[in-house]
Amino acid sequence: MSEQQQFDVVVIGAGPAGYHAAIRAAQLGLKTACIDAALGKDGKPALGGTCLRVGCIPSKALLDSSRQFWNMGHIFDQHGISFDKPAIDVKKMVARKDGIVKQFTGGIAALFKANKITAFYGFGQLQPGNVVTVKQHDGSEVALKATNVILAAGSDSIELPFAKFGEHIIDNVGALDLEKVPKRLGVIGAGVIGLELGSVWKRLGAEVTILEGLPNFLAAADAEVAKVAAREFKKQGLDIKLGCKCTATEVKKDGVHISYTDDKGAAQELVVDKLLVAVGRRAATKGLLADGTGVQVNERGQIVVDEHCHTGVDGVWAVGDCVRGPMLAHKGFEEGIAVAELIAGLPGHVNFDTIPWVIYTEPEIAWVGKTEEQLKAEGTPYKAGSFPFAAVGRAVAMAEPAGFVKVLAHAETDTILGMHLVGANVSELVHEGVLAMEFKGSADDLARICHAHPSLSEAVHDAAMAVHKRAIHKAN
Ligand code: FAD
Ligand code: NAI
Repeated sequence: MSEQQQFDVVVIGAGPAGYHAAIRAAQLGLKTACIDAALGKDGKPALGGTCLRVGCIPSKALLDSSRQFWNMGHIFDQHGISFDKPAIDVKKMVARKDGIVKQFTGGIAALFKANKITAFYGFGQLQPGNVVTVKQHDGSEVALKATNVILAAGSDSIELPFAKFGEHIIDNVGALDLEKVPKRLGVIGAGVIGLELGSVWKRLGAEVTILEGLPNFLAAADAEVAKVAAREFKKQGLDIKLGCKCTATEVKKDGVHISYTDDKGAAQELVVDKLLVAVGRRAATKGLLADGTGVQVNERGQIVVDEHCHTGVDGVWAVGDCVRGPMLAHKGFEEGIAVAELIAGLPGHVNFDTIPWVIYTEPEIAWVGKTEEQLKAEGTPYKAGSFPFAAVGRAVAMAEPAGFVKVLAHAETDTILGMHLVGANVSELVHEGVLAMEFKGSADDLARICHAHPSLSEAVHDAAMAVHKRAIHKAN
């Protein structure tokens, strides 16, 4: 091993959390290195983590392609548009997605260069004394000495012991790269990945059956939102079975056989061509820490940190999916920036109460803050105002009238405590709630802000007015 190279900051992992930390640290004048082990589909190093390679971006590319295809068969007719039977070239669709991935992973490499961040391509391990060793892809090893180390190792799919990943049983990586539309797609887990990737293949013509363990659909979302979403997914033909306990799988000539008990306890079998297992993700901390670093890992494999992402070991921080909190790219972005700023002596901070959630199905689902169920459970007095997209001119003009916006505000102070949305483009609209909550805004503040007409945002406006029973476009 050559002599140790010295850095102010060494980041392990160039996913959303790691690359944000590295770029912000470099912007603040710190000599920064970032290490990543991942290779792209072409076998070459690819920065950007799960998000850019096999997560957020490629899934949204396929969601958009499949949405266009679905609309041709289901929406265009309403506009008076007709054409011969739509056809999908899956290879071309996947190649488009791969092109987008390459563009964005290459973009991170360019940003590293522009910010004078030294990239190391290989597997990094933290040693005691803030030394990081890197086993590079060419077989060589380097050691880096850092004043501060930021661990941003991300997460991997959870594999079920009775459903080992292979050609027929796949995780998100496989489901983003199918060569043809499976006739029958099974999904274990009606969470975010199951719904998004299940929707992609359903829209393209697969028969999709989702087996969910919990008795409630989308338990983390507002119950009314979950109810409307379930109704819309049913209309689209997504077969979601709740309260199922999967016990075994077997790959046979005619497909993957999944044994499960249904919500009544009866034994069932489902046979599919491909089975997507999407039952959550686990922190990717295996091999990250050498003995004696002092960094603690909990029973879920997550690195233990305080509210400032500090591990308790001098100069060692951890951010993103490998620590507590929601596994979301933008949560990682914020933690990465906050830690770089704290290292530079600035007041870095993440507000966990205003992290938005979005599920990019059709209709989209989004929320920020507390649900009605949470407010009831904690005994917080609140008022709710909601407004349906069916009464919003723009939504109806777009032929996307499903869903609603709900604003929850404190019954005494009127401070907004949560916003819950299901409908077209709510991935964008939810940020009205985020912004209002960041500024401790009230439902009345939102109600008094001028919103463009006609726009989907009018649903937010009227929902805020509905909190005080003064919505204009519906009976209060
Ligand atoms: P990661 O993105 O996992 O990056 C960690 C990086 O570190 C990886 O490149 C890995 O190779 C590298 N690494 C790990 N250990 C080492 C080591 N020891 N040495 C060197 N390198 C190492 N979130 C959203 O907010 N919106 C979405 O729409 C969304 N869609 C998703 C869709 C799918 C299919 C999936 C799977 C996830 C999605 N997510 C989404 C979640 C999002 O991808 C993650 O929350 C995010 O990528 C986490 O960022 P991270 O930097 O913590 O980790
Ligand atoms: P998830 O936690 O969202 O959903 C997993 C689902 O599987 C849950 O409903 C759970 O009850 C169910 N489940 C768990 N074990 C089961 C079993 N044995 N049998 C049947 N059901 C079982 O996890 P998912 O979908 O794998 O996604 C992982 C994470 O990736 C998400 O939590 C999210 O943080 C992130 N993500 C975010 C996206 C976004 O922001 N739009 C998109 C995709 C992923």
